[in-house]
Amino acid sequence: MKNTDWGKLPFGYFKTDYNVRVYHRDGKWGEIEVHSSEYVSIHIAATCLHYGQEAFEGMKVFQGKDGSIRVFRWEENAARMRSSADGIMMAPVPDELFWDAMVRVVKLNRKYVPPYGTGAALYVRPLLIGTGPQVGVKPATEYMFMIFVGPVGPYFKEGFNPVKIQLVRDYDRAAPQGTGQIKVGGNYAASLRPASRAKEEGFASVLFLDSKENKYIDEAGPANFFGIKGDTYVTPDSSTILPSITNKSIRQLAADMGMTVEMRHVPVEELEEFDEVGACGTAAIISPICQIHDRETGKEYNYCKDGKAGRKSTALYNKLRAIQYGEEPDPYGWITVIE
Ligand code: PLP
Ligand code: COI
Repeated sequence: MKNTDWGKLPFGYFKTDYNVRVYHRDGKWGEIEVHSSEYVSIHIAATCLHYGQEAFEGMKVFQGKDGSIRVFRWEENAARMRSSADGIMMAPVPDELFWDAMVRVVKLNRKYVPPYGTGAALYVRPLLIGTGPQVGVKPATEYMFMIFVGPVGPYFKEGFNPVKIQLVRDYDRAAPQGTGQIKVGGNYAASLRPASRAKEEGFASVLFLDSKENKYIDEAGPANFFGIKGDTYVTPDSSTILPSITNKSIRQLAADMGMTVEMRHVPVEELEEFDEVGACGTAAIISPICQIHDRETGKEYNYCKDGKAGRKSTALYNKLRAIQYGEEPDPYGWITVIE
């Protein structure tokens, strides 16, 4: 990959050589197919097109310091995809199939794994869709599981430099008893308008409030929110938040660094009390936040006075990255090496 400037990659689509696909028909999964086309041909009445039977995942593969190809916590993504499938009545993908498909597509696109030291990673995007036709609102009888991959840089162009985000009160991402806790396309469709507006207005992302009472911090766009005060790491608990695997990992790291970890409702007013705040996710990694602007009230919450990420967020970021890239031991068993 001579002409790729790995260190400057954005988070976006990057054409690679192969993707993999598997069909679920007559109640069972078929064989993994390898394709080089970027297009899929599906029935005009497929349920993914009409009724949103679609779930996806996002994982990263890293080239370690020793040259190994390292996947971060893939079993968690496989389990979450099953929970998404269950939530919108799709055929679940067994762990073994998830793993086999992932290893196949990563190995086939081996040359696209960014070299160690560039800060980039290979993003792995599994996708499960209802392909069987229905016109009445019913689950499909056929499904397709696919994975494509592509090298990526940080989700926010700022990388680990702090971003400004916009707190919104006039849009909800997901309903209180809806699909916010699973990773289905509809949640992202609902976020497009407020997220685009936030970008137009100069913010990297949007910060949603809980959709029942509009009182508590919810999702930070395509990432979870966290705040740090003193030695306490606080992250919202809510029925509309996607259980982030990155956040789960950071909670563990924070606890092991001697911090107190709290997962609970976080009232908007508490934004005043945090020393550091950030967004976390596979794509966002840890993105420190320097300002939260409440679009409705005009109130601004400012963090990181010198324009830099706070000390604790930086320590957590460094620790997570060191485990991912194999610079430090992985006592948690989070990494699986693809041989
Ligand atoms: N929240 C939303 C809405 C997301 O799309 C993501 C990304 O997957 C996350 C949070 C972070 O989850 P994870 O750390 O598992 O990538
Ligand atoms: C991820 O962090 O993997 C995501 O899926 C976020 C976004 C690109 C939807």
